[in-house]
Amino acid sequence: KIVPVIMAGGKGTRLWPLSRAAAPKQFIRFIGDKTLFQETLLRVSDPTLYEAPVILTNEEFRFLVAEQARELDIGLAAILLEPVARNTAAAVAAAATLVRDRFDEDTVMHVLGSDYEIVADDTYFECVRIAAATAAQGKLVTFGIQPTEPATGYGYIEGGKTLPTGARTVARFVEKPPLAKAEDMVATGGFYWNSGMFMFSVSGVLAEMRSYAAPVLKAAADAIAKGVRDLDFIRLDKAAFATSPNISIDYAVMEKTSNAAVVPSPFKWSDLGSWDSVWKSGSRDENGNLAAGNTTVVNTKNSLIMTHGVHLAVQGMDDIAVIASEDAVYVGRLQDSQDVGNLVKMLAAAP
Ligand code: GDD
Ligand code: MG
Repeated sequence: KIVPVIMAGGKGTRLWPLSRAAAPKQFIRFIGDKTLFQETLLRVSDPTLYEAPVILTNEEFRFLVAEQARELDIGLAAILLEPVARNTAAAVAAAATLVRDRFDEDTVMHVLGSDYEIVADDTYFECVRIAAATAAQGKLVTFGIQPTEPATGYGYIEGGKTLPTGARTVARFVEKPPLAKAEDMVATGGFYWNSGMFMFSVSGVLAEMRSYAAPVLKAAADAIAKGVRDLDFIRLDKAAFATSPNISIDYAVMEKTSNAAVVPSPFKWSDLGSWDSVWKSGSRDENGNLAAGNTTVVNTKNSLIMTHGVHLAVQGMDDIAVIASEDAVYVGRLQDSQDVGNLVKMLAAAP
């Protein structure tokens, strides 16, 4: 069976001010009645296909994780707690080390982000099965989404030849290209967006990490070895984990490996990483607006207006995001959504 590994330690800064340091987007109910983290748990809850999931998160989110799993009555295999954020390469390295110790080198892990929506229908599970079969052969497997525009917030995957499992080899993986390059790739065709999910065998991903991310792997393995077990929690050793470079799995491994594969994935997927993607994934009215909460919207087109608190009235504005939480308001152009993370860095640096 497949071991699900859920990465839920991101800060989600591009969804400020609804996503906050104390409760980032994966743990908040901002669209449905379940959080994105809970939806991710439900997608890996079929016991005929999956073992109990391993969760990776930051130390400060441990209660959110435990509580939200309990709410769904889903048992967790382990909650790995990162004492400092070192991004997803270190998280995957720690998970692979743990899964090797608890199972073996041949075990297949489904690594999932917790910040996109997927319709988990038959098409989706067919892709999962193809990915698992391909990963069992040692490939580092991605799920390729058909691009609809030259978005700069995603990884781009160029498909190569078709393998017997139905997956394709990867000719090139380009993480977050500049706009001109993204435009080129979309115009050329043959590229997919990286969904943010991976299927790896333990031995497959560890081998590539030894080649391309040895310091990350060493830091994570030491942090596990010296980690402290406390019920379901495993507290990674801080001194060891902190020595890991801060780098994502995409840059550290996927861009470099020549052993990647992609499963062409026609299931419904929408990233909820930034305000423009929230706007695109929601159901908009006849003026192209997506409004949620207590809002009044007049003479405004193609905008996202959301409030969790105050009454928000917007007049005579196009192509913008106006987002109000209980204590902060963001106003910006939807096209600048990728830059909200930088704005939040400025806020954090402000006295
Ligand atoms: N445990 C843990 N620790 N999880 C983390 C950490 C960390 O330090 N940093 C991020 N995560 C989690 C986030 O919560 C999210 O669920 C997932 O890992 C991906 O991180 P993001 O920071 O959201 O990555 P991204 O959106 O910029 O890019 C990735 O996803 C895109 C699709 O949504 C890449 O894989 C892209 O190639 C991909 O297209
Ligand atoms: Mg993301």
